[in-house]
Amino acid sequence: MVSQTSVDSESTVLVTGAAGFIGSHLVDRLLAAGHRVIGIDNFIRGTEANIATARTHTNFSLLRADLADETQVMDLVLPAIQGLGIATIWHMAANSDIPAGVFDPKVDYRDTFLTTFNTLLLLRRIGASRIAFASSSAVYGEQPGALRENSGPLLPISNYGAMKLASEATVCAATTDALSRAWIFRFPNVVGPRGTHGVIFDFLHKLKRRQDELEVLGDGAQQKPYLHVHLLLDAMLYIASHTADRINLYNIGPEDEGVPVREIAAAVLEASGHSGAAIRYTGGDRGWAGDVPRFHYAVDKLAALGWRPSQSSCEAIRQAARELAAEIKT
Ligand SMILES: NC(=O)c1ccc[n+]([C@@H]2O[C@H](COP(=O)([O-])OP(=O)(O)OC[C@H]3O[C@@H](n4cnc5c(N)ncnc54)[C@H](O)[C@@H]3O)[C@@H](O)[C@H]2O)c1
Repeated sequence: MVSQTSVDSESTVLVTGAAGFIGSHLVDRLLAAGHRVIGIDNFIRGTEANIATARTHTNFSLLRADLADETQVMDLVLPAIQGLGIATIWHMAANSDIPAGVFDPKVDYRDTFLTTFNTLLLLRRIGASRIAFASSSAVYGEQPGALRENSGPLLPISNYGAMKLASEATVCAATTDALSRAWIFRFPNVVGPRGTHGVIFDFLHKLKRRQDELEVLGDGAQQKPYLHVHLLLDAMLYIASHTADRINLYNIGPEDEGVPVREIAAAVLEASGHSGAAIRYTGGDRGWAGDVPRFHYAVDKLAALGWRPSQSSCEAIRQAARELAAEIKT
């Protein structure tokens, strides 16, 4: 079923986390589709460089605000956007540093959960009725076999995963009063230009400091699915314009079982011109406490809707390694 959503027609939309990796690409896509886009970011991880193209667009404006702070949301953001006719909020803001949330659980309480809770308060106040939410594979915790949208019980092993799951829950609850439609996208690992974090980003920054040896956390056998950010956006926009349920929950990812970290290390060394460097593994089956070392998705629900990825995890890694190596000179 194809529905008319704000994605199909020109309208004013709000994007949280707009200066981040995925948010900034989303902003560019929404601007290209003719929308007026208002971005919000507190630049804890987002950068001005990521939104340099958007800044040149007359249909783009950006509010610098902390969405975890209800006072800022109500006193700063609300007056700036009230009455603009925003129907849809794309909520991308969150903590994206999972280990940081293991050391200090408040990080994910604030930046992953409260940003969602306060975004819903804002949504109610401006009378918006649709939210598209960036959730994560981390909600599944460690489970055997392919992860399906109805896999469970959901027992996350990181605070990040826990606060994403709590965010999904509060989004669902809001469909009983404020929301006419919610899209919950469970992303895999997403890669591509403008990276602000993640395995390729980390490897390149390590190589910037030292070119003859690359330290890899864990034993290199961790294996996860990867999707290029451009395909992720294709999938999100496709789902948003082809679904009309009150709650639309989708895994988004490649159709394979992922790429081992040792192959990612090799791809990054090749893309950055350091193929001769030694790889030193720190050992253990995972990179950090809270890391899910192996998982893969079942994406048949998305395929049944009519969208399939045109790239494998391996192809996404190779492309992103080249793109990020051009951004992060080693
Ligand atoms: N990149 C991935 O592999 C991946 C995987 C699963 C889920 N996700 C989710 O996708 C979304 C985007 O992730 P990303 O990779 O672009 O990360 P990112 O860190 O580049 O983007 C998140 C943005 O949110 C902003 N932000 C954080 N806390 C904020 C706050 N309190 N107030 C206002 N802005 C705040 C940051 O400054 C940043 O620009 C996040 O919700 C993330 O959890 C990403």
